[in-house]
Amino acid sequence: MRSVQVSERIHWVGAIDWNLRDFHGYETPRGTTYNAYLVRGAEKTALVDTVKTPFADELLARVGSIVDPAEVDLIVVNHVEPDHNSGLRQIMEAMPNARVVASRSGVAGVAEYHGGLEVEAVGADDVIDLGGCTLRFLPMPMVHWPDSMFTYCAEERVLMPNDAFGQHMASSERFADEVGLDLAIEELTIYYANILMPLGRQVAKAVEKVVATGWEIETIAPSHGVIWRGDALGSVLDAYARLTAGETREKIVVAFSTMWGSTDTLARAVADGVAAEGVEVELFDLAVSPVAGVTRHLLDARALLLGSPTLHHGMLYRVAGYLQYLSGLKPSGKIGGAFGSYGWSSGACKQISERLGEIGFELPFDPYTQKYRPGPEEVAEAREWGARYARAVRELPGA
Ligand code: FEO
Repeated sequence: MRSVQVSERIHWVGAIDWNLRDFHGYETPRGTTYNAYLVRGAEKTALVDTVKTPFADELLARVGSIVDPAEVDLIVVNHVEPDHNSGLRQIMEAMPNARVVASRSGVAGVAEYHGGLEVEAVGADDVIDLGGCTLRFLPMPMVHWPDSMFTYCAEERVLMPNDAFGQHMASSERFADEVGLDLAIEELTIYYANILMPLGRQVAKAVEKVVATGWEIETIAPSHGVIWRGDALGSVLDAYARLTAGETREKIVVAFSTMWGSTDTLARAVADGVAAEGVEVELFDLAVSPVAGVTRHLLDARALLLGSPTLHHGMLYRVAGYLQYLSGLKPSGKIGGAFGSYGWSSGACKQISERLGEIGFELPFDPYTQKYRPGPEEVAEAREWGARYARAVRELPGA
């Protein structure tokens, strides 16, 4: 299989997972890639990152298009999450002469995942010389896991930051400028919303840490999706500055699940009330909407209004499931609210409000609840309830 040249001495040798549709609950309609890079010095060859087990043969075939895998001298494990590390043993068998390095925390992670496998620790003071081509390392705890690490090749001016700057997107092209910058930045944003949102502070620090090194960077080669080079570099850095700053705009996400259509009717009325105030609104039925897309929209919104009828004294499971999804992502600086209809017993709105509060949403107004089928009066009330939220988000800061 073919490799792709990234710079004079670095080739992409990863794998393309065209058919991945679910990344631990995050829908991935475009699939993803597991990127790995072969760095060739005058004396030694290094493989930076590996791939998920089913794709180990694909990586080895791409490496084999450049060099016999048995001649690889070094494997760098930037991150032990299984999408990058589960294929390590299989790849090591084909590279018996390679020493394997990881961050200090990564050493423990590799041993735990691979049944005691021992690898060496590297840190910020280490430089590995491949022969006129060097690798340096920066531990980056929580970008994405405690073990995460960035690897940098000074002579090629290439930063390999693993999950940071990644996107879940399979494509035949390897560079952002080839797939189109708008698409690449949008996929980067979806990835950030669904993977890195709770780690924004650590991601911002990581960028500062790289800047402080004074490293010259011409290419950012992440472990998922396309590679950033040329003009795309400035665009992706600007995008990360906006994302890590938590920039929002006058926008509200309305999401709901419905039984017999009453909460659907209320959701539309709430959304209409928001829009009537000149505030952007996105409306999602959670029964048919991928949560990754809802969350991407929530990222730059200032409010989440969640609707559910009451079933067995509580909210519908799709609403509960979305709240559980959000509880890990910890959106901050946003307001929230609950609405919904009920028949003989209410309870959903109370549950939703409590859960929103636990996650960190401010709840400026009481929920809007309505019994049985909403008539014109209730629709008007729901509209006004949405409009109140629209007026409230105007008062909130943008970042
Ligand atoms: Fe792509 Fe945190 O793994």
